Amino acid sequence: MNKTIKLNNGVEMPTVGYGVFQIPEEQTKKVVTEALNDGYRLIDTAAGYLNEKAVGEAINNSSVKRDDIFLTTKLWVQDFDGDNPEKAIDGALKRLDQDYIDLLLIHQHLGDVYNAWRAMEKAVKAGKVRAVGVSNFQSYQVQDLMMHNEIKPAVNQIQINPLNPENDNVKWLQDNDIVPEAWGPMGQAQAGIFTNPILTKIAKDHGKTVGQVMLAWNLQRGVVVIPKSVHANRIKENFDVFDLTLTDDEMKQINGLDQHNSYFDGLLTPDTVKVLGNMKFDYQN
Ligand SMILES: NC(=O)c1ccc[n+]([C@@H]2O[C@H](COP(=O)([O-])OP(=O)(O)OC[C@H]3O[C@@H](n4cnc5c(N)ncnc54)[C@H](OP(=O)(O)O)[C@@H]3O)[C@@H](O)[C@H]2O)c1
Repeated sequence: MNKTIKLNNGVEMPTVGYGVFQIPEEQTKKVVTEALNDGYRLIDTAAGYLNEKAVGEAINNSSVKRDDIFLTTKLWVQDFDGDNPEKAIDGALKRLDQDYIDLLLIHQHLGDVYNAWRAMEKAVKAGKVRAVGVSNFQSYQVQDLMMHNEIKPAVNQIQINPLNPENDNVKWLQDNDIVPEAWGPMGQAQAGIFTNPILTKIAKDHGKTVGQVMLAWNLQRGVVVIPKSVHANRIKENFDVFDLTLTDDEMKQINGLDQHNSYFDGLLTPDTVKVLGNMKFDYQN
């Protein structure tokens, strides 16, 4: 199982990262420090998570060299207009207290994403950002973005777990040399995913946990994973996946768990676009 994957601009990205969505700022420094000590080299945050400052502190206080860490953050919709994206990128660098961001993503396909993308391209040229990508984009939206801009997205971060394998989107992204990255790779611990009988049987057969099986399944098909946990034992467990290889039959069984109940299938309605598009976060300090 690969520990890094090469992006379409040559930058190496770790295949297992640590996500900090919904982790309170006051807890973030401690858990990111634990993750770095356990071997994680990718940290995934966002302006909208309101914990960039603590992520930056953990990175700056770590004995791991900055260049060995791959830091991802995301721009939120309220910053997509006019010259706001430039300001937002500088604001993120300031909150994170970093000279550069390894991967900057557009968090949602809402608002003036083309304006945001062009500011992100400028940030790459200015050396503020090493790679740019998108999140929650349908493949047709990625295609359109590529056709009207200079830099191709390196990554699309979408919801992928055994109950939503997104097989078609994963294949399309890989065919187009864009790395699929799974948010919510443990299914956000919902829909009984940790007690699913097929996953439980496979885990037992390998002497591993259901969580580790979910992560190995994605890694084995070239999908980057960024599990989140606030528990030290689980943070460790979720990184201990590189020695687990599933058989073709096990991979097939897991791919067959698709419930077609993903974010794309259910959440993106006109009403949720209204809610998300109007959502504003107070991170400008
Ligand atoms: N781009 C986007 O729109 C977007 C959306 C959502 C998430 N994300 C990113 O993806 C990351 C991961 O997604 P997520 O946090 O939503 O969900 P997730 O990683 O799929 O699941 C997290 C849940 O699983 C539990 N868990 C973690 N490891 C476990 C283990 N080994 N055994 C049992 N339970 C375990 C956690 O509980 P405990 O914490 O209590 O251990 C938490 O309830 C986020 O942190 C964020 O960085 C991005």
